[in-house]
Amino acid sequence: MKNKNILDLTNQYNNYIYPKPTQSLPEEWIKKNRFQICDPNYCWHRLWPEKPYSSKRLNVLIAGCGSDQAAILAKCNPNHSFVGVDLSENSLKHEKKLIKENNIKNLKLYCEDFRSVKFEEKFDYIISSGVIHHLDDPGTGLKYFYKNLKDEGVIYLMVYGDKKSYATNQVKKLFQKLDLKQNKDSINFIKNTITKLNNLHPAKIFSETEIKRDLNHPSGIVDFFLHKKENFFSIKELIKLLEKNKFVIKNFANGRIRPLSKFFTDAPLDIKEKIDSLPIEDKLEISQILNWNDRKIDLICCKSSNKKNSVIYNNINLEKIYTYQYHGVEYKIDGSNIKINDKINNGFFNLNFDNSKLEIHEILDGKKNLFDITTKFNKTEKRNFMSKILFMIENSILDFSYHPIVDYKKYYAIKTN
Ligand SMILES: C[S@@+](CC[C@H](N)C(=O)[O-])C[C@H]1O[C@@H](n2cnc3c(N)ncnc32)[C@H](O)[C@@H]1O
Repeated sequence: MKNKNILDLTNQYNNYIYPKPTQSLPEEWIKKNRFQICDPNYCWHRLWPEKPYSSKRLNVLIAGCGSDQAAILAKCNPNHSFVGVDLSENSLKHEKKLIKENNIKNLKLYCEDFRSVKFEEKFDYIISSGVIHHLDDPGTGLKYFYKNLKDEGVIYLMVYGDKKSYATNQVKKLFQKLDLKQNKDSINFIKNTITKLNNLHPAKIFSETEIKRDLNHPSGIVDFFLHKKENFFSIKELIKLLEKNKFVIKNFANGRIRPLSKFFTDAPLDIKEKIDSLPIEDKLEISQILNWNDRKIDLICCKSSNKKNSVIYNNINLEKIYTYQYHGVEYKIDGSNIKINDKINNGFFNLNFDNSKLEIHEILDGKKNLFDITTKFNKTEKRNFMSKILFMIENSILDFSYHPIVDYKKYYAIKTN
């Protein structure tokens, strides 16, 4: 017997499948070189920075795969095996259409509450994006992931943050008071109400920047404004929930939450020292507030027993790392000066390494480790260089791994030929 939460979710995602499904996988993804943020080839260095890249088969679960996510990932990663589970038969119908049209052989689908599916083999990687925050108790999802994940495995988790959505959540309270149903009239009413808001109303700004596409699509409006169950998280609450279920944050999947030191470059030394000395949970709490870019919190988590591999909880051994361009960030190199446009956070940086021995492109290529890049540097040059690199990593404008990072676009090209 399905409980009310699961019945509501099943009905909603059968009547309003979300996201608006991909019609042509080659046209909308492959030819455009578009990829999912959780694609295991593309983000290997974020999932397993402690391991060299391998194309060996991974067993991957997508819990709440929706209308196209599983098919996209399976098509783009033919070397891995995928299982997609969703409550919505209609969403899975679309996934099946994509499987057939694109001759996908490495994906199995189940129409169930993912928490009740039993598997013989544990997973290397579990993806759950926009799902557990709709459960009555999101912890039950994490408990299931723990049980079904290999010890060295990782999960990619996306849940809503509680800051940027604050104003729209106030407006939603009105819709709840009016007891709006998930139907055409409510959808039109909501659209009109949002259009009429003052242009400076934070919910209007949010709607026009964050969910513009969703506003033009009935399922988008239902998913965003008429959901019956949603949980919004502060990063601190999320860390506690993860800890309770024996997980820790291993890495962030993008730079929406983490950047912090960029806000304090001109701060007095005692303030900098105070911030530096705070526990990581407090630092992340501050950065969530200052960045205010948490509509989605995209995390990579590992079992707490693997905390040693978390790049959030451990100091980075700078000499050993290979650094790489951060997705969503643009770089312009001019001598030993680099201009950076962080499109994810609307931020600009101008960093002058002031060192003619440095070939700056090497820090974006992921091919040489920092020890090798700095062999010719004297002590002061090395210290200056390393402090800038650390600043870039802390502020999500440079990525890294303890192993060479191979250009993910190459995998993509191979896969799509
Ligand atoms: C917001 S959609 C996201 C879909 C997909 N993860 C993506 O990012 O495109 C949430 C999906 O999770 C599914 N879902 C929610 N709770 C679930 C559960 N307990 N078991 C299986 N699927 C679930 C819904 O049916 C819906 O298709």
